[in-house]
Amino acid sequence: MNKHWRTEQDQDGIIWLHFNQADSSTNVLTVEALEELDATLIEIEQANPTGLIICSDKPSGFIAGADVNAFSRITDVDEARQQMRQAHAIFDRVERLKCPTVAMIHGFCLGGGTELALACRYRVCRNDPRTRIGLPEVRLGIFPGFGGTVRSTRLIGHLPALNIMLSGRALSGSAARRVGLVDMSVPERQLKVAARHMIMTQPRPHQPTWLQRLPGNGLLRPLVSYFLKKQVAKLANPAHYPAPYVLIKHWRKQANHPKAMFTSEAEEVAKLISSDTAQNLIRIFLLQDQLKAEGRRSDFKATHVHVIGGGIMGGDIAAWCALQGMHVTLQDRAPEFLSQAMGRAHSLFKKKLKKPLLVRDALDRLMPDCKATGVPKADVVIEAIFENTEAKQALYAQLEPRLKEGALLCTNTSSIPLEVLNSSLKNPQRLVGLHFFNPVAKMQLVEIVSATNTDPDTAQQAAAFAKQIGHLPLPVKSSPGFLVNRILMPYLLEAIVLLESGVSGPAIDQAATDFGMPMGPIELADTVGLDICLAVADKLAESLPVKVPERLRSMVSEGKLGRKSGQGFYPYSKGKAQKVVVTEGANVLPGLADRMIMRMLNEAVACLHEGIVSDADLLDAGVVVGTGFAPFRGGPMHYISSEGKEQMQSRIQTLGSEADAGWIEVFKG
Ligand code: NAI
Repeated sequence: MNKHWRTEQDQDGIIWLHFNQADSSTNVLTVEALEELDATLIEIEQANPTGLIICSDKPSGFIAGADVNAFSRITDVDEARQQMRQAHAIFDRVERLKCPTVAMIHGFCLGGGTELALACRYRVCRNDPRTRIGLPEVRLGIFPGFGGTVRSTRLIGHLPALNIMLSGRALSGSAARRVGLVDMSVPERQLKVAARHMIMTQPRPHQPTWLQRLPGNGLLRPLVSYFLKKQVAKLANPAHYPAPYVLIKHWRKQANHPKAMFTSEAEEVAKLISSDTAQNLIRIFLLQDQLKAEGRRSDFKATHVHVIGGGIMGGDIAAWCALQGMHVTLQDRAPEFLSQAMGRAHSLFKKKLKKPLLVRDALDRLMPDCKATGVPKADVVIEAIFENTEAKQALYAQLEPRLKEGALLCTNTSSIPLEVLNSSLKNPQRLVGLHFFNPVAKMQLVEIVSATNTDPDTAQQAAAFAKQIGHLPLPVKSSPGFLVNRILMPYLLEAIVLLESGVSGPAIDQAATDFGMPMGPIELADTVGLDICLAVADKLAESLPVKVPERLRSMVSEGKLGRKSGQGFYPYSKGKAQKVVVTEGANVLPGLADRMIMRMLNEAVACLHEGIVSDADLLDAGVVVGTGFAPFRGGPMHYISSEGKEQMQSRIQTLGSEADAGWIEVFKG
């Protein structure tokens, strides 16, 4: 009796092979599902059908990929190699079937799912916005290992295939059709007809053009590899993210030799997957799932959102909710305060939705509403006005009697304790913090802030709402800076102290990016805005041992606010920091990165001790997603344990004699 795969044969003799993984909302190629597929294929070989159509019974999509959970348990190269070879054998069986084969794709078709589709003779897909086809393995520190490197280059040509694998980008149905990854991209009602059509007519399978095959020529490959590596180097440091470089080398050595390429693929992916880098990236991927799970504890669903304060944050939150299909009313003191927010919303819709009709519909969902008529209808009310306790409390006094029963009342405050804000409410348990980060459309994390008296159900509903709009909820306790700002700020301030002591900005930034941060702290402070950094730092200094550097204060009083004012620690031209490049080798004072990073680690440990987040895994997830903390290191707490606590303590003690020692105490505890 099959658990995951089901076959049915139609009147034309075509076998439809349905994948419907048991106990899961998404199809994933687990070892068990692969073994069952293998056994089913043997039966299909014997049945000698007119054709085979592989499809999914899950509404979410075709196949989301291989089993990433199982990846996280691999520690041994031999075991990994064995798994790759087994998948190769099964997909070879699909490819060798005598009858024509079709993958009928809707929704997600990623990683191993795409590799299975590539083993079919044809592929057809649904052309709606939810169809995404790709090979994103590089984001997990590996590359396609189920035959994908061989079959993708052979099907669509070397450069298009390498582009898809190196970027990890997923394609829409029509983009996949344009590059030849699928043969047809059709509306839902025609999908089955298209699949059947491929079997009955058996057109010549897609082949790359001569020009697309050319870069695979043995004489050209070294040159092409050189340029590919140069491109990749703009995005990924080989010391931190080796996978794309190993992929290029594997291709350079083996392209056009399918047998050797299959062997090399299994070998190289097996080595990568058992490395610390891949295991840490896989860990972060799984932790993001854990954040999503925080949003599944309640089945709260919103259809109408009312946002108050149409500034940077409120305006962008409102636009994002409208983009996600919600009806949104946006309130400010007067209509003129909303013009910029509406303009930014229009640009966001154009960028994300492209088609004018969809842009128009999104604009229709976003209504300026200075008379607050949306309040009684809203399922969620989000306050994002000035960071001022009295102003917020006065607003809540007007809002509370008008709220719909069961509606969420949320604040985007970044620094005022929820206990203070909710003290003026008749029903204080109902206020919850929904702390978004700037820019809302890029920063996925939302801290769900609870005061001691916040209703836990309300906090879970707020997390469900964050998930509903495609963000990642992180439950945190109300305390200064919550989690992310509390950890980030000491690091930024330490960088400014170093700057004050004469170390150059570019050298400081380089030390941090060498560690694996996506951007150096000096440039990051400029990007966030020095006024905002100062406000957060001052707030933290009220309750934590944080010293605010004089240099930061003087920059703000001189109006040097960072990128937005054209001058911060760096001058800016066309939005880009003008910094002197640090010459190779001239860098970097020993211990410079440690001086800054240890501040973060120290604060991370303190947050865990104080119960700001419930456990170390959630802390790691929040800090990586919220600050970009070197993902390949697996998060601050994981980094501490992998380096060894004792090792860390001795490094911190050395630093204690260089910097002021107060801050190391928490870590010791
Ligand atoms: P902002 O100054 O850009 O916008 C505030 C808006 O609120 C203004 O348009 C103002 O006219 C409006 N407003 C003020 N009082 C009002 C009232 N009584 N009724 C209706 N509208 C009113 O401020 P921003 O930066 O958007 O911050 C808003 C909130 O978000 C603050 O609590 C801030 O701490 C928080 N926050 C800010 C972040 C940032 O990077 N700017 C990041 C995360 C949170």
